Amino acid sequence: MIDEFRKLFPDLTPRFFRAPGRVNLIGEHTDYNMGFVMPIALDMNCYVAVAGSNDRKTHIHSLDRGEGFDFDPDVAFAKPRKNWTDYVIGVAQQLSMRGVRILPMSMVFHSEVPEGSGLSSSAALEVSAALAFLNGRTYSGVEMAKLCQRAEIDFVGNPCGIMDQYISVFGEANRALELDCRSLSHKPVELPANAALLAVNSMVKHDLATSAYGDRVKECKAAVAGIARLHPEVKALRDAKLEYLENARLDPTVEKRARHIITEDDRVEQFFAAARRGDLDQMGKLFVASHRSMQHDYEISCEEIDFLVDTALTIDGVYGSRMTGGGFGGCTINLVRPDRVDAFTKEIVDRYQARYNKQAPVFNCVPSSGAREVKDLSTIPATNKTSS
Ligand code: GLA
Repeated sequence: MIDEFRKLFPDLTPRFFRAPGRVNLIGEHTDYNMGFVMPIALDMNCYVAVAGSNDRKTHIHSLDRGEGFDFDPDVAFAKPRKNWTDYVIGVAQQLSMRGVRILPMSMVFHSEVPEGSGLSSSAALEVSAALAFLNGRTYSGVEMAKLCQRAEIDFVGNPCGIMDQYISVFGEANRALELDCRSLSHKPVELPANAALLAVNSMVKHDLATSAYGDRVKECKAAVAGIARLHPEVKALRDAKLEYLENARLDPTVEKRARHIITEDDRVEQFFAAARRGDLDQMGKLFVASHRSMQHDYEISCEEIDFLVDTALTIDGVYGSRMTGGGFGGCTINLVRPDRVDAFTKEIVDRYQARYNKQAPVFNCVPSSGAREVKDLSTIPATNKTSS
């Protein structure tokens, strides 16, 4: 990335920033219902090298795609181009709407977060872009997470919650965060040292994912409207209790969606408490309960993911397994006894290969720190990608 920057902009001296991807431990689709989530930031980042510009344009270049784009830094009326540049330009537009002057700049991005695997490569790109446009100017972390989410909703067109951007900004080494998506405050919790968190990438992303996400957002709104007829204090599903569903006379699908959210919020709180006391059995049980709720009530799983979860649960040393992220593919997250990590990895990979003829990458998820400037360049992993 550094070489690429020098090649493209030989007269400029860049600064470097990074923003991580994430894995969510529990609390799925609860964020846009104002509830609780418990993600960790990963030791996998989107990096950006940034400096001013020698002309009046902003130049953005993706090392991974081997392509760049130039635009006028006056982004007030910029239009989406329906590709990766929207995440960057959308963030510039949101910053400028909040009074941050967008200057002509030169940027090279390089990401280690695999795309389409539910590990928030897009939030990592948005947050690294925000840091690059700010280029050292101080800015509130919560506001940064919010504006990156807004860029994704308004400019990219994904009606997402705040979780991914928030954890990318606020992640902490060795800790998961329980984030309250209404107050936008969090409590860190150290995870028991005697368990590993392994993500298994199904390498599938079903086309349904984007449209189904929007459908779930609408179904949750419908649930709130129905419940609020009897319980006007319910402004979001976070405020509802399970017993409210008995008399709400919701459409059966809407009722199932609400049941997932209400029970899932409860599982996040229970998981936090279990993690605090190092109760791995209980943490594992909550993983499985969360998965079943996503599978049957929220209906966002898919065959390959259910296979990975069900297979994991037959392997010795596995406390629990569940899908993580938006749904319809991506990764499972597995809580595994440290001395069983190698055996688990081999068995899950072999069985997935035998069933779907696909290689499932497995990675150890180590809770890592959130977005920041990179001063020690030796921490940026080498890549052999260069554009010709
Ligand atoms: C995606 C969204 C998040 C969240 C998760 C599901 O990652 O970007 O806001 O809703 O799905 O928990």
